[in-house]
Amino acid sequence: MSSITTVAIVGGTGSLGTGLGARLAQPGIRVLIGSRDPERARQAAQTLNAALGRGAVEGWLNEEAVRQADLVVIAVPYEGHAKMIEDLADSLRGKLIVDAVVPLKKGRPFIPPAGSALLEARQILGAETPLVGALHNISALDLQDSAAALGDVLVCGDQETAKSTVIEMLAKIGARGLDAGPAANAYIIEGFTGVLIQLNRKYKSKHATLKITGIGD
Ligand SMILES: NC(=O)c1ccc[n+]([C@@H]2O[C@H](COP(=O)([O-])OP(=O)(O)OC[C@H]3O[C@@H](n4cnc5c(N)ncnc54)[C@H](OP(=O)(O)O)[C@@H]3O)[C@@H](O)[C@H]2O)c1
Repeated sequence: MSSITTVAIVGGTGSLGTGLGARLAQPGIRVLIGSRDPERARQAAQTLNAALGRGAVEGWLNEEAVRQADLVVIAVPYEGHAKMIEDLADSLRGKLIVDAVVPLKKGRPFIPPAGSALLEARQILGAETPLVGALHNISALDLQDSAAALGDVLVCGDQETAKSTVIEMLAKIGARGLDAGPAANAYIIEGFTGVLIQLNRKYKSKHATLKITGIGD
């Protein structure tokens, strides 16, 4: 898979989407903020462009953003996940998809019927779709602060090339991506976000994240 030039973020008006959008725009990636409401998307893009000092980010209806992108990040709350993937299925075919969704109910993780959000997306889109789980344990606050160091990103999925392309993209935003195995591992990685939320509560933080030592250090 060739290098990524255009990234759409479905649910890009939220905390993760705006932080990720700002980070991706910095090295010159074309960023398409997606929303269910095109006006909300345009406003989010305008705010990001004002902070960046240039017009690197565009706002679109989710479906239109997806159609123009090489890589699509799914960044909606779990309750909207399955319906969003179903609604966008036709436009998502042929794209590299990164699913960042964590199944949470009132801030607590749970395992959905498919086994994970990633496997739920695969059930809908089919096993041939290049689909990768990533960004679950990263802090949106860190993404939004261009000076903040980012946590490591565990990347899982069953297509090796897709994982390598995502790891390459993560390097461009200053995050170390690590191949964390097959899609079957997604429930562990998604669920670990619940532990990070608990740590934030306990230690009165807002951006606990994950760092793996012992690899390349
Ligand atoms: N925040 C973090 O630090 C973080 C870190 C790692 C992973 N995640 C995961 O990434 C995903 C996005 O997180 P977030 O904090 O950015 O979420 P968020 O701000 O609550 O929502 C993101 C966007 O999704 C859209 N949306 C909301 N409800 C929806 C629904 N029922 N159906 C479809 N779209 C809906 C909204 O955009 P429009 O109204 O404009 O369409 C909203 O701005 C979540 O699954 C979360 O678990 C978050």
